[in-house]
Amino acid sequence: MIKTSLVAALVAAACAPAWAQDAAPVQLVIDTTRPGALIDKDIQGQFAEHLGLGIYGGLWVGPQSKIPNVHGWRKDVVGALRELHVPLVRWPGGCFADRYHWRDGIGPAAKRPVRVNAMWGGVPETNAVGTHEFFDLVDQLGARAYVNGNMGSGSVQEMSDWMEYLTADSQSTLAKERRANGHAKPFPVAYFGVGNESWGCGGHMKPEQYAANYEQYANFLEPAPQRRPRFVASGGNDEDTSWTEAISARVKGNIDDITFHYYTIPTGVWAHKGAAVGFDEAAWIQTLSRTERIDGLIAKNAAVLDRNDPEKKIGFAVDEWGTWYDDGPAPAGGVLYQQNTLRDALVAALNLNIFHAHADRVHMTSIAQMVDVLQSMVLTDGARMVVTPTYHVFRMYVPFQDAAALPAALTGAPEYALGDVRMPALSVSAARGKDGVVHVSLVNSDPHHAITVALKATGLQVASVRGEALSAAQLDARNTFDAPDIVHPSPWKAVPDGHGGATLTVPPASVVVAAVTGTATP
Ligand code: AHR
Repeated sequence: MIKTSLVAALVAAACAPAWAQDAAPVQLVIDTTRPGALIDKDIQGQFAEHLGLGIYGGLWVGPQSKIPNVHGWRKDVVGALRELHVPLVRWPGGCFADRYHWRDGIGPAAKRPVRVNAMWGGVPETNAVGTHEFFDLVDQLGARAYVNGNMGSGSVQEMSDWMEYLTADSQSTLAKERRANGHAKPFPVAYFGVGNESWGCGGHMKPEQYAANYEQYANFLEPAPQRRPRFVASGGNDEDTSWTEAISARVKGNIDDITFHYYTIPTGVWAHKGAAVGFDEAAWIQTLSRTERIDGLIAKNAAVLDRNDPEKKIGFAVDEWGTWYDDGPAPAGGVLYQQNTLRDALVAALNLNIFHAHADRVHMTSIAQMVDVLQSMVLTDGARMVVTPTYHVFRMYVPFQDAAALPAALTGAPEYALGDVRMPALSVSAARGKDGVVHVSLVNSDPHHAITVALKATGLQVASVRGEALSAAQLDARNTFDAPDIVHPSPWKAVPDGHGGATLTVPPASVVVAAVTGTATP
């Protein structure tokens, strides 16, 4: 286990740093005069699947529970998530979506059928959480809804009926049924997904087969134009661009986004993924360098889209991403429940910076998943709850929601290497927020060296750069129920250089997010 005194170093960030410094300072120029693509807030979307404790236990405890709740949703968890300004929640799956029949989840709870969640552990699915409960959750979060429909085991008619039930404002029988079930107004559906991972758990289809099916299913999704969600086609994963190719070449109209899934697995081998905690520096760099692969994967798919959709009408939605480790200890009911460390924080920040860089195509993503599943924001065990290092990164990145990306040019940036694995040590993203302020995020993947950055901003005389830094004393530092504050952000600031710029010290193994303020220059 590598141990570095990062916490002490962080506190001293603005004074005399304790760790080794890079010899030559890195130059960073942010051009505040050339705003680029909008960094859609939906890039910070979340995912809640009927999987393990992801819904039942972690979020939903039911109105009768002793755990404080509002209409069945946990107060502690919802309260913590509200701090993230969650823009979007995807539900009910994942693989579960292609096994879910929406009629099971409406009407009086006591009369809903109990099914078996055959996808995730064969546990009883009570259907206590259905359409109305999910929309109550997104209301409580202040988020919008991404509903994922069932192509794999559902019919065209079933999906079409769900859309009508959700969105119709007419006197149709389905609209009346929704009203009778307690929701007078149509539900606002922001995105509607047609199947999930149709190459695998969603039905083992071929791309051309899925594209033909998509056209048929989407043809019968007929919401009123003013309530039309974005229609989302289920695309490929990892190196496979054939799904993006087939869907974008064949489907003309009735499509707004094509999805893509990429999980960060430390070893790159599904059978032996690597542990969530207790890893060495080799696993640290492997994980971070593997997560950066998503940059090239998005670029490859974007090139396909640029050919088939040069007007950029179709978005590329990375609606599953994050770390996936070998199973570790889990509370009762936990499935794909994993600890979350400083390494996950850096994974989150690196991914978000990459999504910002592709903001012209990537308008929406959802990390897998929000609570108690894979790279979660929050972990629970019975009545206890703790926020993860990943949670802190999402909170730090809130200023990037709906910000305008700014060019950020790095020169002289060092490399971080261990054995035969090499990667850029520094990742940067800059944007002008909705608040008009320039925000910058910097990720230093090197756990041994602070990086000194000489910042200049075109069009801005910099007076101050202030924000927060997240790091910890160990690479696998994590928050636990007994020690919930081991990994948390600390105040951070840069030193003005006296010439309209600033000197930034980015601690080893850290994420820094800061506001750059000053006087606009002609
Ligand atoms: O996020 C967990 C699972 O991973 C999802 O259900 C599925 O779509 C993917 O394979």
